[in-house]
Amino acid sequence: MSISEDRNVTERPAGRFARLVRPDEGLIDRSIFTDEDIYQLELERIFGRCWLFLAHESQISRPGDFFSTTMGEDPVLVVRQRDGSIAAFLNSCRHRGARVCRADMGNAKAFTCTYHGWAYDTAGALRAVPNLSDGYHNELDTRQWGLVRVAQLDTYKGLIFGTWDPTAPPLIEALGDIAWYMDGFFDRDGSGTEVLGGVHKWMFKGNWKLAAEQFASDMYHGQTSHASAMMAGAQGLDEVDERAAAQQFSAKPDNLGRQFSSPLGHGTGWFDGPPAEGDTTPLAEREWEETQREARIRQLGADRRPGGHTTVFPTFSYLQGRMSTVRVWHPRGPDQMEVYSWILVDKSAPPEIRDIKRRDAIHSFSPSGLFEQDDGENWAGIQSVLRGRIQRRYPFNYQMGMGHEHHDPDVPGNIGYVFDEMAARGFYRRYAQMMDSELYPNEPPEWAPPR
Ligand code: FES
Ligand SMILES: [Fe+2]
Repeated sequence: MSISEDRNVTERPAGRFARLVRPDEGLIDRSIFTDEDIYQLELERIFGRCWLFLAHESQISRPGDFFSTTMGEDPVLVVRQRDGSIAAFLNSCRHRGARVCRADMGNAKAFTCTYHGWAYDTAGALRAVPNLSDGYHNELDTRQWGLVRVAQLDTYKGLIFGTWDPTAPPLIEALGDIAWYMDGFFDRDGSGTEVLGGVHKWMFKGNWKLAAEQFASDMYHGQTSHASAMMAGAQGLDEVDERAAAQQFSAKPDNLGRQFSSPLGHGTGWFDGPPAEGDTTPLAEREWEETQREARIRQLGADRRPGGHTTVFPTFSYLQGRMSTVRVWHPRGPDQMEVYSWILVDKSAPPEIRDIKRRDAIHSFSPSGLFEQDDGENWAGIQSVLRGRIQRRYPFNYQMGMGHEHHDPDVPGNIGYVFDEMAARGFYRRYAQMMDSELYPNEPPEWAPPR
């Protein structure tokens, strides 16, 4: 029986995703990228329960600063409180549900709904209701009608995460081993990071998982998808060395690139060792990285992770190294996503480096970035194929590197070669577990490398 013929969503809901998503065989049914019922269940079981990235602390440094985002499709306000703590609320008036804040970000003393004028303070309490005495006869208990709070909120190295699930484990436990890898980007020299400029936002056709799995696991596409962008000098090079550009993503000996997969669904991949011959990184950046080397070793115990791609399950992704982009793939239906993307720099970075980072990110990964358009074009193209009827019979292949996963004394977790789909299999193993579980699955799915 094919994986698609085996799909019976109503009869045996308990094991539905164990059948659609088969990472141990490297097979995944295409319906998880298109089915509206599955999407609705994702909003509940993935986006209603997982720790989701909300904002960077540097975006809301003063009391009253707020940033507007979404968790799944639910609008959320992240607000710096008077005591310096951070809170997040459903951005929906308790009266008829209108957004109480329609700005993307800013500073506020109160959030006043534009429909009938209910006003909430920055801690979410309902403070003023027009016509409270004559209309409501003073019978409305305003203490009961404050904004809905995000159940848990925490930060890791300047990154603010929240979850709607009061039973979800603490953030640090939900991150697991990926925190070790995150430190290589968010805590390189002890000064931390900050957002450079504002937020890029854009929509495109494509299921959110296509982007999330790519950033978790897929260095593989670079040499094909991004070959022309590299040759065209996508990172704003003044002089283009075509040979060097083509080498950026080309295969290297097995020990020069690795991939990590977490049982909690996170994944990252990177090249180690020296940069490719003819590295095109601007001289000033190379020199700065060199001067920072000691600080990195002091902070991290090693000069860890020069560059790579990462997804923190489910939708927080970043590229470290030259591109320094951090983003969230917000779901907007089974066939659409909205991207929020930030450029991040070390707080210690001097103006010249900030300028290089800004240009690099805009040229490579932004709405106008060449790499971004390569990726978006691929995902939108796949999504259009997924409209067909016949194609549904044939599962996707995630078999690269199966059986060759291992452990590595240098780095934590399950490790594969940089060209591998191990981290995508790990992403979907956790995805299927969460989708099949009525209660938050504290124990990650069992799986261990064969060697
Ligand atoms: S919807 Fe907000 S005051 Fe009526
Ligand atoms: Fe890409």
